[in-house]
Amino acid sequence: MLTILSGPSDLRRESDSYAVTAEFYDILQADADEVRVRRLYARHIADARTGVLDVGAGTGRVTVLALAHSGVDVHAVEPARAMRTSLLTRLAALPTEQRNRVTVHPRPLDELALDSVADVAIGHNMVGCLPPGIREKLWPALGKALTPGGSLFVQLPPARLPTRTIVRLLADKRVGEHVYGGRITMSAVGNRIRTRADYWVRDAEDVLREQTETFWMWPATRAQLTRELAAHGFAQLPGYEESELLAVTLPGRR
Ligand SMILES: C[S@@+](CC[C@H](N)C(=O)[O-])C[C@H]1O[C@@H](n2cnc3c(N)ncnc32)[C@H](O)[C@@H]1O
Repeated sequence: MLTILSGPSDLRRESDSYAVTAEFYDILQADADEVRVRRLYARHIADARTGVLDVGAGTGRVTVLALAHSGVDVHAVEPARAMRTSLLTRLAALPTEQRNRVTVHPRPLDELALDSVADVAIGHNMVGCLPPGIREKLWPALGKALTPGGSLFVQLPPARLPTRTIVRLLADKRVGEHVYGGRITMSAVGNRIRTRADYWVRDAEDVLREQTETFWMWPATRAQLTRELAAHGFAQLPGYEESELLAVTLPGRR
């Protein structure tokens, strides 16, 4: 479903993706992801001197880490209304000093004109969600948003299509009398990965409700992304060859 938004200068169409997933995202995935996000980005965030850009901020785990581990401004870019709702709820609970440093941008990055706002940019678990055509628009937008010498850290998407259906069960979480559960099923369809998320809520006797949302993902290898980024002036940072991150910088720009 698409919502028509009335903006200051024009009408914008807003995506309703993650409308189902947003409810279940943190309760089922936040604990494991919190540990991963700290491990992958905490030290880079601590090095930020100008700003941190969290592209595809989702419910805000990287954004909140950036506010807590740096003293710089933070830009959280999140086009999906459902995810942004959780993000803003999280930001509302922060101390005023931190909330005053974060700006939430409700559009895709390539539709914003962010210019030199950050020296550290992070794309956690988002590049795989972009079709190649949109990815190609993301790189120059990131180049513009970064200051000269700034760095970009991107969590790598799956390198290739799965050869068989992959099913991942999410750990159950109790909430009072109910237990929340979920399953992610990934399979190849053409050049994309169909990613179906099934969620359910149970009590002691029954399944009370079940909901489903399907996403598409596009695989890309480190070499392919490195080539795409190089075409927009990014150079690889050494030492990440074995990492789940692709790390690049914009040396000597401008
Ligand atoms: C799988 S979610 C990950 C969210 C968050 N980074 C996390 O790991 O919890 C991917 C996010 O990227 C956002 N997104 C998709 N296209 C985008 C774009 N062009 N610019 C910025 N964000 C985008 C989606 O709305 C979604 O919230």
